[in-house]
Amino acid sequence: MSESQTTYIRPTAQPRREASESRFIQACKRQKPDRTPIWLMRQAGRFMPEFRDIRSRVSFLELCKNSELACEVTVMAVDMLDVDAAIIFADILLPIDALGLGLEYVKGEGPLIHNPIRLATDVAALKPIDVGQSLGYVYKSIELTARALPKHIPLIGFAGAPFTLASYMIEAGGSKTFDKTKSFMYSEPEAWHLLMKKIVDISAQYLNFQVDAGADALQLFDSWVGCLSPTDYERFVLPHTKALIELVSGRVPVIHFGTGTATLLKLMAQAGGDVIGLDWRVNLAEAWLNLGFDKAVQGNLDPTVLLGTREELKLQVARIMKEAASRPGHIFNLGHGVLPMTSPDQVKFLVETVRNSEAAQ
Ligand code: CP3
Repeated sequence: MSESQTTYIRPTAQPRREASESRFIQACKRQKPDRTPIWLMRQAGRFMPEFRDIRSRVSFLELCKNSELACEVTVMAVDMLDVDAAIIFADILLPIDALGLGLEYVKGEGPLIHNPIRLATDVAALKPIDVGQSLGYVYKSIELTARALPKHIPLIGFAGAPFTLASYMIEAGGSKTFDKTKSFMYSEPEAWHLLMKKIVDISAQYLNFQVDAGADALQLFDSWVGCLSPTDYERFVLPHTKALIELVSGRVPVIHFGTGTATLLKLMAQAGGDVIGLDWRVNLAEAWLNLGFDKAVQGNLDPTVLLGTREELKLQVARIMKEAASRPGHIFNLGHGVLPMTSPDQVKFLVETVRNSEAAQ
C-alpha cells in the first residue's frame, strides 16, 4: 500500500490565492484576521429545506457520488449562510464503501456496515485500494467546488480519524459504548494496530489527494475518540493519528477535531494539527491555555443552543468570544454538527451575531 501505487486521476489543481489568504486560513495560521471567521460543521445538511428537497430525489450515497450535486450542495450552504469557509459535501465513511465493507445509510437509523471487521483475519484480508479510482468522485467534487466557490472562500477537505473510522468498521455502525471496538483493541492488539496502520495509509493518500484536487485546509474528525481514557488514547490511537497528520502536514492547515475530549486535548495536540477542534463541554479559555497558544482553536457553541431563544444565543456567543479574548487563532464553530431540527433562520442569526459581536469590540 505504498503511495507510488496510487494513480491520481487528475493533475494538481491551480492554487486559489485569495482563498489561501482568507480570514479562515489566517486564523488557522494564528495570524490576526479582520474578524473571527465562522463556519459550521454539517452546514450542508438536513436542517435545510433545499437539502431535504434534493435528498427526496437521490439517496445520500448517490448524492456523495454525484460530484455536480455535491458541488451544488456545498456552494448552496455557503451562499445561504454567508459563512467564511466551505466544507466539501462527502462523508467520513466513504473509504469504508471503497474498501468493500458494504456501507449503507438506513433511513432513520444512520450508517450500517454489512461486512464489519470482527476478527484479526478480517484485518489481514483488507486489501489496499486505489484511492484515485475508488474515491475519484470526491476529487471531482473538490475540483468542481473550488472553481464554483467565490474566490475568497476556502474549501475544507476532510476524513475520519483512524479511531473513529475503525470504530465504524468494527461496530458495523454507530455505538454508545464502543464495546466491540474496545474489546477488539484489548484482545487483539496486534490486529488493532495493523487495522489502524491500514487506515492511516488509505487516509494519507485520500487527504493528500483532496489537497491535490484543491482543498485549502483539512479537517480530521475523531468524533468518538472521547470514549477512551488518556492512557488508552496514548497506547492505541496517538501514534497512528500522529503518523497520519505527519503524512499530510505542511501543505495546508490541518484541523484536529473530536468530541468528549476534555481529558484528551493535550494528547490530541501532541498527535498534531494546526487547529484543535473543541466541543462545548470545555471552557474555551481554559482549553486553549491548557493546549498552549501555539495552537489555533475551533469551536465551541453547543449545537442545541440554536434551538433556544435568540437572547440565549447572543449571550452564549458573547461568552465564547470573551473566552477567545481576541487572541489570533480562533475559528468560531459549533462544538459538533448542526442538528437536523435547527431552523435555518436561527443559523443565519448565529452567523450575523458572531460578526456583530466583533464589530462591537
Ligand atoms: O456539511 C458538512 O459538514 C459536510 C458534510 C459532512 C457529512 N458528514 C454529511 C452527512 C461531514 C463533514 C460529515 C462527517 C461525518 N460523517 C462524521 C463526523 C462529524 C460528526 O458528526 O461527528 C460522522 C461521524 C459521519 C458519519 C455519519 N454520516 C453518520 C453517523 C450519519 C447518519 C446520522 C446523521 O447525522 O444523519 C451520516 C450521514 C450524513 N452525513 C448526512 C449528512 C448531511 C445525513 C444524510 C441524510 O441526508 O440522511
